[in-house]
Amino acid sequence: MNTMPFKCPECGKSFSSKRALRIHETESHIKIKRAPTGVPGMDEILFGGIPESSLVLLAGTCGTGKTTFGFQFLLEGAKRGEPGVYISLEEEPERLVRDARRIGLDIKCYVDDGTIQVIRPELYRYDSLVNEIETSIHRTKAKRLVIDSITILGSYFRDPFELRRNILDMNRLLKRLNVTTLAVSEIEEGSEKLSRFGVEEFSVDGVIILYYIKHGNTFIRAVSVRKMRSSNHSMKIHPIVIRDGGIEVFPSEEVFADI
Ligand SMILES: Nc1ncnc2c1ncn2[C@@H]1O[C@H](COP(=O)(O)OP(=O)(O)O)[C@@H](O)[C@H]1O
Ligand SMILES: [Mg+2]
Repeated sequence: MNTMPFKCPECGKSFSSKRALRIHETESHIKIKRAPTGVPGMDEILFGGIPESSLVLLAGTCGTGKTTFGFQFLLEGAKRGEPGVYISLEEEPERLVRDARRIGLDIKCYVDDGTIQVIRPELYRYDSLVNEIETSIHRTKAKRLVIDSITILGSYFRDPFELRRNILDMNRLLKRLNVTTLAVSEIEEGSEKLSRFGVEEFSVDGVIILYYIKHGNTFIRAVSVRKMRSSNHSMKIHPIVIRDGGIEVFPSEEVFADI
């Protein structure tokens, strides 16, 4: 006989009374507002989306889908009437928009009306870069932000701990501005680290990892949630596909290949 009949629909934990379940929900889930990612299946492994105003690292080697994920996230916001900014520190905005459209993301109308803005700031000085990010958030009233990539910021600092401190400062600033942010972390091929400098993951609220795994003579794409402050999440590595329309996650499947 099940002595804990009241199950939380968010995280699956069971409770012996309705009251205990209500307290759990209030303390663990209900207070947290979440931003749906716009990636089909992803919100299920995040147990509801990305907690609002958090800074989440989106880590992966090249070609794992980080940029695509970022645009899906902004597109989802735009559909909900939330402006979004894509800070591109490497690639030309026109090229990024063209590639996102080629993968089947219908962002053109939102780019045209300014709901999604792709900006490539000058990389001259770190403080002016941060300034430009802040100004663009104020100007557009952005609720969602993508920084592609945070790895570039490492080149401003000789000491990894300086980088860590500055990302922490940026996290505080973005929270004050009330934006939910995905910061792309470029992982080097073959590296076991979650980030280039090995410190970026400590200054953020969450880490999502995108994989490209060699398994026999094929490659498997996958995703996992490594950490997400103030939220429970799936502990599994889930397969994904990139196809016309972007990334799709399979929340009820898992990858067993070695990573
Ligand atoms: N229409 C498509 N169908 C399937 N896969 C695609 C399509 N367009 C791009 N891709 C795949 O998605 C990858 C692009 O992912 P991208 O988001 O640019 O990765 P990252 O930013 O991590 O380097 C490409 O390397 C390619 O393998
Ligand atoms: Mg990219």
